[in-house]
Amino acid sequence: MRKYTKKSSMLMIVSLMIMLFSGCTGDKYSNANQRGKKDFKVGMVLYNAEDTFISYIRDMVDYYIELYEDEAGVNIELEVLDSANNQALQNTQIDHFIKNGYDVILANTVDREEASMIIDKVQKAKIDTIFFNREPVPQDMKKWNRIYYVGSSAEEAGRMQGEILVDAINNGLELDKNKDGKIQYVMIEGEYGHQDAILRTYHCIKVLEENGLNMENLATDTGRWFKKEAKEKMENWLEEFGDKIEIVLANNDEMALGAIEAMKAYDYFNGDQWIPVIGVDGVDEALEAIEAGTMIGTILNDYDEQAKCIVYKLYQCIGVNDLNINISTQEKDNYFWVKHKKVTKENVNTVKKHNSILKK
Ligand code: BGC
Repeated sequence: MRKYTKKSSMLMIVSLMIMLFSGCTGDKYSNANQRGKKDFKVGMVLYNAEDTFISYIRDMVDYYIELYEDEAGVNIELEVLDSANNQALQNTQIDHFIKNGYDVILANTVDREEASMIIDKVQKAKIDTIFFNREPVPQDMKKWNRIYYVGSSAEEAGRMQGEILVDAINNGLELDKNKDGKIQYVMIEGEYGHQDAILRTYHCIKVLEENGLNMENLATDTGRWFKKEAKEKMENWLEEFGDKIEIVLANNDEMALGAIEAMKAYDYFNGDQWIPVIGVDGVDEALEAIEAGTMIGTILNDYDEQAKCIVYKLYQCIGVNDLNINISTQEKDNYFWVKHKKVTKENVNTVKKHNSILKK
């Protein structure tokens, strides 16, 4: 109790300073008036709880909320709801949070274009909302100053995929097996309409072309981020193109792993027969595949830092501005752009070690 009172007065000073220095009217930090309050309810919606990467974010958010409760002197009850890929269902879940007086909402929308409607609702109810992973369109983000976005740049991930391949080629990887001067590739994309699918694909190919590679697309299809669907697509392509495929580009690791499963079923990786595969995310199984040599690399979509940024902002939204939480991403205009990192055989061990520490 004592700790909380002390914290409260400190927070009041910090908040007053922020208002003075930013010229802010107090609206942005209006939740600071909840400072007499100790118990908070946070509602989190996930577009689909079965998505591996999203489950990593959920686990880390849960972990960091709990880790900082004592220091902040508050109790936070986190309710996580699975929207099961259904935006209409998610809208009712948001209504539930509003009706039941939740203090902050963490939103991973099913359809990013529906964020507009969610923003109208939370603005009316004055509930700070942190979107993550599925970026609302910029004009929606401008609708209210108490909505935030935490994510990573899709362009950066795509570019880094291209750069890993260019480096590998410069270090002797022979991609053009049939020596026709072109690299025949298949592309497994995430969901249509997702910013990460469109931009990762575009920028990966752009980097390869900028580096003088003549890229020929044999096929592109969506695996909707999931392993099983990617595996089915890859099986069809192996039937259709077989060894003509010189590289498999995947918008995320799950789909890259699905392609590898398909290849294994077709007896690839048994002897010399293999096709290089690259993904994005840095999920555990992908790191193992890189170690085993079945995947050439991935791009770490830093879920730990993303979760930390979400929790950092969430604590600010309930008036706790002085948490001793170490984030390396700066908030800019209500956005947190978390940096990616390239992962290949050279550094996979360091990333694995870091991940195992986190999961303890
Ligand atoms: C991740 C995917 C994930 C998707 C969900 C992307 O940023 O790379 O693995 O399925 O977000 O929205």
